[in-house]
This record gives sequence, C-alpha cells and structure tokens, in this order.
Amino acid sequence: MNYIGIKPNNVEKTATQLNKLLSNYHVYYQNLRNYHWNISGEHFFDLHEKFEELYNEAKVNIDEIAERILTLRKKPTSTLKEYLEEADIKEMPTLDSNEMVKNIIQNHAQLIDNMRNVIECAGEANDEGTIDMVGGFLASVEKKSWMLDAWLAKS
Ligand SMILES: [Fe+2]
Repeated sequence: MNYIGIKPNNVEKTATQLNKLLSNYHVYYQNLRNYHWNISGEHFFDLHEKFEELYNEAKVNIDEIAERILTLRKKPTSTLKEYLEEADIKEMPTLDSNEMVKNIIQNHAQLIDNMRNVIECAGEANDEGTIDMVGGFLASVEKKSWMLDAWLAKS
C-alpha cells in the first residue's frame, strides 16, 4: 500500500541520498568515539564530554534516517563495509585536540553538503516529511560547527 502518496520513482533519488547520509553518519559517529576515547591533555574534560554529546546526537539521528528510508519503502544500508565504501567522510586518525576539532568541523561540512542534497531531492518529490527531519538535523549540525569554531578561536 502506498501510504505516503509519493510516486516510487520520486522516492528513489531521496532514498539514495538518505543512504549516503546514513553511511556518512556512521563514519562520523565512529570518528567521535575515537576522539572521545583518545583525547588527552589540557582540553580532556571539555572535549571528552563534547564528543560524547555529539555522538549521542548522531546515534539518534542515524536511527531516524534509517527508519525514514524504511518509511519510504526502501532498504537502509546496514553493514560497516558498505558504510565505509559509500561515505564521503573518512575514518580519522587520532590527533591533538585542535586537529580533532578541525576534523569534526570538516566532517560537519560533509554532512551538511549531503543533507542539502537530500533536501533538494525530497523537494522535487514534495516529500515534506524528509525535508522536515533533515532540516532539523542540518540546523543542529550548523550550530555545533559554529560552537566548535568558536572554541578553536580561543587557542
Ligand atoms: Fe565514555
């Protein structure tokens, strides 16, 4: 049953972009865990906590994206192998705190780019549900980037 009233052909491009976003988010999530665990030095307490806050938000968004793909009657990508192959975001090495924050801002730029592509495809399909969901993620990632950039400015 076509319960959302969007033509299957119009869903295809959006689902492809959502699956890319799912892949990007998984690699981003693991980058944050890496940094949460391996941060050391004078910024340990603030960044250890900040990275945890960010990966917890990523975890929630990951589930929302996968379930939106299912709502659109498509299959969410589900293996780490596929995530690594399909993501624009790459696994990051452990670095000093400033480089970690710069890398996370860079990851955010890649997520933002991917999210704008999702919104563009969803707009063509009048898929307001996807636009609303991803629009919320987008504003939050943009705000987090501003905060991380402000943190960098102090050092
Ligand atoms: Fe922890």
